[in-house]
Amino acid sequence: MPPTKAPDSLSFPVRRRCPFAPPPEYERLRAEEPVAKVRLPTGGTAWLVTRYDDVRTVLSGSAFSADGTRPGFPRLFPGQEQILQRPPFIRMDPPQHGFYRRMLIQEFTLKRVKTLRPGIQATVDRLLDELLARTPPVDLVDAFALPVPSLVICQLLGVPYDDHEYFQSQSRIAASGTSTAEQFASALGGLRAYMDELITRKQRNPGDDLLSKLVTEQLEPAGELRREDLLMMCLMLLHAGHETTANMISLGTMALLEHPDQLAALRSDPELLPDAIEELLRYLSIADFVTTRIAAEDTRLSGTEIRAGDGVIALLAAADWDPEVFGEPDRLDIHRGDRRHLAFGYGVHQCLGQNLARMELEIVFSTLFARIPTLRLAVPVDELSYKHGTLLYGVHELPVTW
Ligand code: HEM
Repeated sequence: MPPTKAPDSLSFPVRRRCPFAPPPEYERLRAEEPVAKVRLPTGGTAWLVTRYDDVRTVLSGSAFSADGTRPGFPRLFPGQEQILQRPPFIRMDPPQHGFYRRMLIQEFTLKRVKTLRPGIQATVDRLLDELLARTPPVDLVDAFALPVPSLVICQLLGVPYDDHEYFQSQSRIAASGTSTAEQFASALGGLRAYMDELITRKQRNPGDDLLSKLVTEQLEPAGELRREDLLMMCLMLLHAGHETTANMISLGTMALLEHPDQLAALRSDPELLPDAIEELLRYLSIADFVTTRIAAEDTRLSGTEIRAGDGVIALLAAADWDPEVFGEPDRLDIHRGDRRHLAFGYGVHQCLGQNLARMELEIVFSTLFARIPTLRLAVPVDELSYKHGTLLYGVHELPVTW
């Protein structure tokens, strides 16, 4: 392995070298410089936090703020500026954050999410029917991993069936991580206009779905939610729930196929599936640096002084591979039975959609490996292309055969 750079010259994001493991630099930083200053691609600097306990400290408590409008909030990509000018509630602090989160929380409880199960199972079955009707190799990302979460969000929001194709094609462009800035902006503009019109339709003719509920109960004048904020909420749900789950489906499949002993153990004991999913979430930690914050006051972390206004990135993959918490973190072990991972974040912003994501992954993996027992990769993992440096880690294409 090539020598890693000295921390003072480290640019962020750092590339992963092995398709699954976090960048090797994290290990060294965790041991030698657990709070390290790095250069961001947008020109500023931020503190990288790599120890499990420190990451939890950053994500809980009031010393660190998620308010994206604060001057100095870390910007990782050009264009983020625009979103952060009027951010969705993932980039707000309490009490404003709670005002919006509370409107959605009932819709993401385990009980409520369970009502979506038959619909998700039907979607997964249909997509696998279509996939099996094709001649392999087939790209699993395009044929399965991206459409599953997109169709689940359609179901959740109440997107009419006739509009699925348009909705899916635009959200696929917005979520693929490969689109140009123009393609992304145009897809987002299309989805925004579509959502705006859908809100009007739900106002006239509400159904039994999340959007109808928000429109009838929360939207002005009956409630306190402005139309613009409702639009932003829908786009955030779409974004937060689409590429995340899609990347977990494709990389999770790949990780199981590359660890045949683990896959065999799972096949022989399907009861292990919930633990296997927790372990895959930990092992892959695909939302590694989604968790950006800004120091709200002067504070110290692992002996390093952080000044109010400094940008901070709490690295989830570094925390989830901290050997102080997870023994032999580089081993994918579906028997680990440890749910302390931070793949869904921690604190008030901990993933709102985690019950839904877990259920989608359970249905996906149980159905995929049962229906295609001979599933295998059509291309060696080191020949695949990965989403390096994008906000969510993943694989661009995953050709599979059976
Ligand atoms: C927040 C990861 C799926 C909706 C978060 C955060 C992480 C995360 C790390 C915290 C961000 C922060 O603290 O700055 C994931 C992963 C997923 C997933 C790994 C899939 C495996 C979903 C799904 C939905 C969703 C399916 C909904 C459809 C949200 C929302 C927030 C959030 C609304 C913001 C919560 C808040 O600020 O209160 N997610 N997510 N996520 N996620 Fe997820």
